Parts: sequence; C-alpha cells; structure tokens
Amino acid sequence: MATLWGGRFKKPIDPDFETFSRSIQYDYRLAEYDIYHSLIHTRALKNGGILDGQECERILAALGEVLREVEQGTYTPDAAAEDIHSEIHGRLEKKIGALAAKLHTLRSRNDQIAFDEKYYCLQVTVNITRRLEDVLDALMQLSRKYPEQPFVGYTHTQRAQVVLFSDYLGAFFLMFKRDLERIKEFGDRTIPYIGAGALAGSSLNRKDYARAIQDLFGDTETAVRPVENSLDNVADRDFLAELLSILSIVQMHLSRLAEDFILYSTQEFALLDLPEEFCTGSSLMPHKKNPDFLELVRGYTGKIYGNLMALLTTMKGLPLTYNRDMQLDKEPVFEAVAIVEKELQILAKLLPGVAVEEAAVARALQDEFLYATEIAEFLVFQRVAFKEAHDIVGRLVRYAKENKVSLKTMSDGQLAEFHPALRQQEMARIIDPQYAISSKKTISHKLPEYHA
Ligand code: ARG
Repeated sequence: MATLWGGRFKKPIDPDFETFSRSIQYDYRLAEYDIYHSLIHTRALKNGGILDGQECERILAALGEVLREVEQGTYTPDAAAEDIHSEIHGRLEKKIGALAAKLHTLRSRNDQIAFDEKYYCLQVTVNITRRLEDVLDALMQLSRKYPEQPFVGYTHTQRAQVVLFSDYLGAFFLMFKRDLERIKEFGDRTIPYIGAGALAGSSLNRKDYARAIQDLFGDTETAVRPVENSLDNVADRDFLAELLSILSIVQMHLSRLAEDFILYSTQEFALLDLPEEFCTGSSLMPHKKNPDFLELVRGYTGKIYGNLMALLTTMKGLPLTYNRDMQLDKEPVFEAVAIVEKELQILAKLLPGVAVEEAAVARALQDEFLYATEIAEFLVFQRVAFKEAHDIVGRLVRYAKENKVSLKTMSDGQLAEFHPALRQQEMARIIDPQYAISSKKTISHKLPEYHA
C-alpha cells in the first residue's frame, strides 16, 4: 500500500517494521472524523486559491462517498494501510486518481490525528452522558421502590447507624451525577482545531479555515475552530488524559457500588438480593448464585486505571511537538471507553431488579448497638456533655455485651446505675429504626434533579 511519504528514501521499508508501525487496526474508528477534517481542509484549499472550484467539488464528492460507507457501516478499512489517514487517501486515489494528492496539501497527519481524536472525544462525551443518565434513572427507580426503607449504614465495614436505603442509593446517585457534570465540562473544553500543519501552521489563512468550517456545518453548532497555537495542537494529549481520568473516577464509583452489592448480597450480610439475569451459577456447586457481573466490574478497575497510567507514562517527558510515541495514545482510550460504556449500560438494567431483603434487614436493625449513638445524643439533650454521654453509653454497651442482656429489657434501676435519665421507656423509644431516622434533621432525603 502506498504511503503518504517516501521520496527521500532509497530503500523500501522493512516489512516487519511496516507491520509493527501500523495503527489502522484500531484508528479505523476515527474514519468519520478524519473525513470531516478533509471536508474542511478541501474547502479551505479552495478558499486559499489552491484548488479550483471543480477540483474542490470532485474531492468533496469522493469524500462524501467514503463518508456514506462509514455511516452505513459498510466501510471495511484496508488492513495493509499505515493508518486511517493513509487508508482514506488510498480510497480517494482509487476514486479520483492524481487529484487525491492535492488534498494533502499544506496539511499533516499530525493535525489530522489531533482533530480526529478530539472529535471522537466529543462523541464519547455524548454517549457516556447518556449512559450515566440511564444509571441515574435506574437508581431513582430502585429508590422509589423503597421510599421509607430503613437500612444498615456502615463505617469501617462495621455496623454503624441506621440510614434510609434511598439515602444510601442517593450517595451513588450523587457520585454519578458529579461524573456526568465532569464529562459535560470536559466536552465543553474540548475543541477540535484545524490548520496546524505538521507543527508550524499553514500558509492558508485563518479566514480560509473559518469559512470552510462555516460552509460544512452551516447553522449546526460546531466546536471546530481554526487553530490558535499549532505547536500545542499537535503536541497536546491532555484531553485524552482527562477523559481517562474522568473514566477512572466513574470506574472507581462503579467498583465501590459493585463491592457493596457483592458484600450485601452474601448470606453473611443478607441485605440485598441481586437479579438473576446478572448472576451465574457454578459448574460444580448446584446451589450457587454468583455476582459475576459486579465482580467483572470490580475487576475491570485494574484495566481502566492501568490505561490511564499507560497514557500518562507514554506522554511523560515527550519533547515538543509530535512524536510517534503518541500513536499509542488511542488503544488505552478506545478500550476504556468501550468497557465503561458497557458497564454503565448493564448496570442501568441490573439496578431496578435489585431487591431489599426486608425481613433480614429488619433482623439486622434489631441490633441494639446500632442505636448507641442515638442514646448518647438523648443524654446530650438531658444536658450531659457529649464526651461523658459517649463514655456512659460505651460502658452500657460493654455491660450488655458481657452479661448478654438486651438494653430494652434492662430495668430502670439497672439503667439508673449508668445515668438516671436512662429509663426503660426511653430505651424502647430510641431503639427503633424510625426514631433513628427521624432524629436526623440535617439531611433532605431527596434525590437531586439532574436534567438540565
Ligand atoms: N498514525 C499517527 C498517530 O496516530 C498519526 C500520523 C502522524 N505520523 C507521523 N509520522 N507524522 O499518531
């Protein structure tokens, strides 16, 4: 396959190196965006007087044919091409012969690839936003199924205090909502620039590009702009590091939800029941229902964080401007995007099918020590200093544990040894999930709005 270079070489490229250097096997995904670059650049060349009207129309028509193939899903890239830019160039040569060579005037693949990747990021932003919205909807649905359900709240994986199940879900809701805001803000600052040349800019002027952009997009809003700093444009891969960072944070949230649901669905915790469609059985043990989807989500965290590290390390210390190392920026991003999109899509289907094990939760909520903090707070309202109240209830808990007695069954006389304000009637009132929840006045118990 012909390359976009070669005049200064006497010897042909080593075939093993040629294969080694290819990126077409993954960068073919950028075909659509690469064609947009060409559609703008062709018009800019005409605006700058380098192509005449007829040449411009012929190139645009040929590009349009390739674009239709891509849109219709019939585009199969030539696996022998060096990269997506050479691949599309090869196609144009077949369609319009020598005229194809005129398209690659005053432009460089360095400019194309930066443009293509940023355009790709904008599309990813739209897709991930949609997926995150579906997860938020699903959390909302599950939450509505259990509006008043009390639940066990943990710190240090130890039973801590009673919370509402909907507030527990609300915590995940807020995490994914922040992710949604992050990805939208990322989209807002990602600008596909055009006109950088190899690094130094091009002798077409900014107006030629501005008019070309206007011609292509007309009234539809576009983020595409004539380049500002050509060196930065071909050297910058911040946007990919940023996208992978955002995906890593999404993945961190996914992994925490996965871990909680895995734990909570064990017989030991027995708080949640997972929908069967997202679990698998054991080939040996007939009784098993394993949370494999959630385990895979937890496991993929290694890959997503690893891909962020791979990109940051590839970019570390790279001299300005473009270096071929940067070709390796694509696979980690494509892979992470595909994984996170799938995870979010499946999670949105799983969530509404989760069930609270209401009887088991009710049993867990009978654990009287879950209300120890509320008992201490009760004493505070009897004007006992919190530190003292903490100590009193600590001793009470130790006494109950050592003597295997229930706080609710202790007599007024026994309780009075710890503090005179502690009475059986008060204990019965406080050791109750509804009391614990209604005594917390700072939280709104509402899932926030997220639609713009
Ligand atoms: N395929 C390259 C990449 O993905 C873009 C082409 C620039 N190559 C070059 N030799 N200047 O980074």
